[in-house]
Amino acid sequence: MPRIAVVPGDGIGHEVLAEGLRVLGVVAPDLDFEHFDLGAARYLRDGTTMPPETMLRWRDEFDAVYLGALGDPRVPSNVHARDILLGARFQLDLYVNFRPVRLLDPRYCPLKDKGPEHVDFVVFRENTEGLYTGIGGQFKRDTPEEVAVEQEMNTRKGVERIIRAAFEWADRHGKTKVCMSDKANAMRHGHDLWQRVFKSVAAEYPRIRASHLYVDVLTMQMVLAPEQFEVIVTNNLFGDIVTDLGAAIQGGIGLAASGNLNPGKSALFEPVHGSAPDIAGKGIANPLAAILTAGMMLGYLGRPQDEKRIQDAVQACLHAGNVTRELGGTRTTREVGDAVIAALR
Ligand code: NAD
Ligand code: IPM
Ligand code: MN
Repeated sequence: MPRIAVVPGDGIGHEVLAEGLRVLGVVAPDLDFEHFDLGAARYLRDGTTMPPETMLRWRDEFDAVYLGALGDPRVPSNVHARDILLGARFQLDLYVNFRPVRLLDPRYCPLKDKGPEHVDFVVFRENTEGLYTGIGGQFKRDTPEEVAVEQEMNTRKGVERIIRAAFEWADRHGKTKVCMSDKANAMRHGHDLWQRVFKSVAAEYPRIRASHLYVDVLTMQMVLAPEQFEVIVTNNLFGDIVTDLGAAIQGGIGLAASGNLNPGKSALFEPVHGSAPDIAGKGIANPLAAILTAGMMLGYLGRPQDEKRIQDAVQACLHAGNVTRELGGTRTTREVGDAVIAALR
C-alpha cells in the first residue's frame, strides 16, 4: 500500500489539496495518507519550518509527498517555503522538475487559433542547482555601498542528468524532438557547460532531433508556435519562469501540474501555482491543477490507467464548463471537485 505524505501548506494549498484527496479517495482508495502540519501557520506558532527527522521519514518511509503550496504574506522572508519545498528538492535530490504543458480544451487557450494539437509538450526543469542554491552573500547591507551576489551553480553531473532525463523520456514516449534552452550568449561559464553537455548527450540519441533556443527566444516561440515543441529542458530559474508561461497557454495556472522526481526514490508532487493569497479562503481556487497533480502521482506510482482516468475526468469537467471564475465559470472549488468525481463515476 503506497504511503503518501500530505502537506496542504498555505493559502489555497488547503482548498485545492482537499479536492485532490477526495479524487484520490475515489480512484485509489488503498493509498495510506499521513498529514503533516507544516507551513506558515506552524512556523508562526512554534518556529518550526522543516524538522530534519521529517525529511528523513519522507525519504525512507514514504513513496511520495503531495503538497499544496507554500508562501504567506505573514512570512515575508519565505524561510519556511525554502526549508520545506526547496529543502525537499535539494535534500531528497529531486533533480527532475517534470512539468507537462498540455491544453485539454481549446476554449481555455489564450492563443489565437491554437488547440490541443498545438499545445502538448513537457518541460524538464533542473531542480537541484542553478540560481536556487542560495550560494552568495551580502556585503555592507543597508548601506549605499551594499553588494548582493547570487551565484549560479552548474555542475557537470547536474546538467548531464537533467538533459539525459529529457532525452530518455522523449525516447520512451516516442517523441522526436528535444529543445535545450539557456542564455549561453551572455552567460559564458555555466551555460557554456550546458551547451557542451547537451551536444554530447544528444549524440547518444541519433533518433531524436536536438535543438537549442536562447531563453528569450524560447518564450517568444512558446507563444507564437508552441506546436514546435515536444520536450524542453532548461535550468532551474528559466524552468520556473517558462512553466508559468506554459501554464498560461495550457489554460491557466489553475491547470498546471508538476512532479519533483528522482527515479526510484520518493518524489514530491505539487501544482505549479502558489498559495494565491489574493483568493485564499474564498473557496474559488481552481483545484484542477492539484487534481491533475494527484493523477501524475498515481502514474509515478505505477498506475498509468488511474492517471489517465483522472485526466479524462478533468477534461470532461472542462468540456462541460464546470470551472472556477478565473476561467469564466461560476463553480466553487468544491463544486469543481464534485464535477470531477461525478465524471469519474
Ligand atoms: P500564485 O501562483 O500563488 O498566484 C498568481 C496568480 O494566479 C494570483 O492572481 C492567483 O490568484 C492566481 N492563481 C494561482 N493559483 C490559482 C488557482 N488554483 N486558481 C485560481 N487562480 C489561481 O503566485 P504568487 O502570487 O506569485 O505567489 C503567492 C505565494 O505563493 C508566494 O509566497 C510564492 O512564493 C508562493 N509560491 C509557492 C509555490 C509552491 O509552493 N509550489 C509556487 C509558486 C508560488
Ligand atoms: C515553483 C515556485 C517555487 C520555485 C518558489 C515557491 C520557490 O515558484 O515551484 O514554481 O521558484 O521553484
Ligand atoms: Mn514557479
